[in-house]
Amino acid sequence: MKHTVDLYPFVALLALLPALSGCGAENMPDEDLGSVSEPLLGEQLPGISAPEFAVAKATFNAVEEVDEGLGPIFNERGCGVCHSNGALGGAGDQIERRFGRFVNGVFDPLANLGGSLRQLFRNDPFTGANGQSCTTPLEVEPSSATVHNVGRLTTPLFGLGLVDAMPDSFFDGLAAAQASSIRGVVNRVSTLLPNPSDPSQTVGSIRVGRFGWKAGVPNLVQFAADAYVNEMGITTQSCFRGGSVLAFATESAPNGVKQPAGCDDLAPPPPAGVPTGVDDAVGSCAGNRTEIQEDVEEFADFMTFLKPPPRGNISQAVTRGEPLFTSTGCSGCHVSTTFRTPSPSPNGVPTNFAFQPFSDFLAHDMGALGDQIGNAGDSLAVTRRMRTAPLWGVRFRHFLLHDGRTNNVATAIQAHDGQGTAARNAFNALSSTERSNLVAYVLSL
Ligand code: HEC
Ligand code: HEC
Repeated sequence: MKHTVDLYPFVALLALLPALSGCGAENMPDEDLGSVSEPLLGEQLPGISAPEFAVAKATFNAVEEVDEGLGPIFNERGCGVCHSNGALGGAGDQIERRFGRFVNGVFDPLANLGGSLRQLFRNDPFTGANGQSCTTPLEVEPSSATVHNVGRLTTPLFGLGLVDAMPDSFFDGLAAAQASSIRGVVNRVSTLLPNPSDPSQTVGSIRVGRFGWKAGVPNLVQFAADAYVNEMGITTQSCFRGGSVLAFATESAPNGVKQPAGCDDLAPPPPAGVPTGVDDAVGSCAGNRTEIQEDVEEFADFMTFLKPPPRGNISQAVTRGEPLFTSTGCSGCHVSTTFRTPSPSPNGVPTNFAFQPFSDFLAHDMGALGDQIGNAGDSLAVTRRMRTAPLWGVRFRHFLLHDGRTNNVATAIQAHDGQGTAARNAFNALSSTERSNLVAYVLSL
């Protein structure tokens, strides 16, 4: 694609807002999330060059079209269109959809039919690269799916570069400290696209997955390339220490049907030697250089250097709610631990930087709250695992839980199940004043 840095207004193509059912009588209106904004939200970490951050931010905010590689199917036209609540990089109102199938208790993402992510939009009919008429089919949920229309809400990105910097051993330590009844799983995954500035990462090296609702992604560089192709249909070839990485170089095929050459989008054809279908080719990886594709690098830089959300005001209710957060068991998973970035820092964030995300970033069996989406071969139990949602900045959110089913903190707590059952029951056993104090505390994080 051409490098688009123009700032477009945030115009969502279509409102993907869930139809929220009316709040139950037990929900006090003051517990609902509002549209809080805060001037300090969305700024860069201390010590990060403001002009460089601004360049990365503009790339994250760019909106793409078919002649820049968008499609054939996609969920939105720009990272910033979705990640926008409170400030650029925030959570979003967009809810994506996934499907899958269980065969003999084993999960099948139906990848050959376009799963498990169902892209919700397609390019409008256009004249293809070879002059032909191109009409992209809309992806639909296959009739063979047994897990239907699972929602995945857009998560906030503030502070995640600090989380990316943490060594695997830190997450092992958090798991080891947990009571066995709530102990999370350290989700070790293979790195498809390493962060070249981190010497411990190589293609295929194992790292603790810590990003996404399922903690399935090991670093922000990889998430950037993954989101570019899966959310926007923009493929990338990357070079890592002289080797070509093609993990994110294949166009999405609506329900598995590859679009004819020239009809996937209108990105300029790649240079000789680069596989066709790569929108944004960087050419040969000869010369043993380390190069990652520019947009992906800038998306990753923007996310890496976004500072955490600021803590809210400390009211009397907040002070009273704090001990309840521990006594009801919330802090078992939403740990109050102060994290501290290592020195040297593997990704350029400040060293010895203290932060409190209120998550262990581990995967927990959440029982009925689990979404039953997984990777090929996962058991039902594995598909019920969800990453402890970080609670920092919850007051800037519009919706909660992986499917965005509520905007009410108490309702979100009451949906906890599986390893979260004891904490949910302890919350329900509180007096109504105690419950609203605990919610006030959560909204101050
Ligand atoms: C259609 C809306 C949409 C667009 C466009 C989009 N995202 Fe996201 N983003 C989401 C959703 C939904 C999730 C949660 C995904 C999941 O875990 O299933 C997410 C999660 C993430 C996460 C994980 C954060 C965490 O909580 O661990 C990162 C990082 C991210 N997106 C980066 C990007 C980048 C970079 C782009 C642009 C290339 C982008 N996103 C474009 C909707 C979007
Ligand atoms: C066993 C671990 C565990 C315990 C204990 C726990 N949670 Fe959670 N919490 C999670 C997980 C996992 C999620 C994400 C669930 C989902 O959406 O699928 C979550 C989500 C949330 C959310 C929604 C956040 C978002 O981003 O949408 C809130 C609010 C929350 N928890 C508050 C609490 C409070 C308050 C307590 C104590 C009463 C508590 N939790 C106890 C694991 C836990």
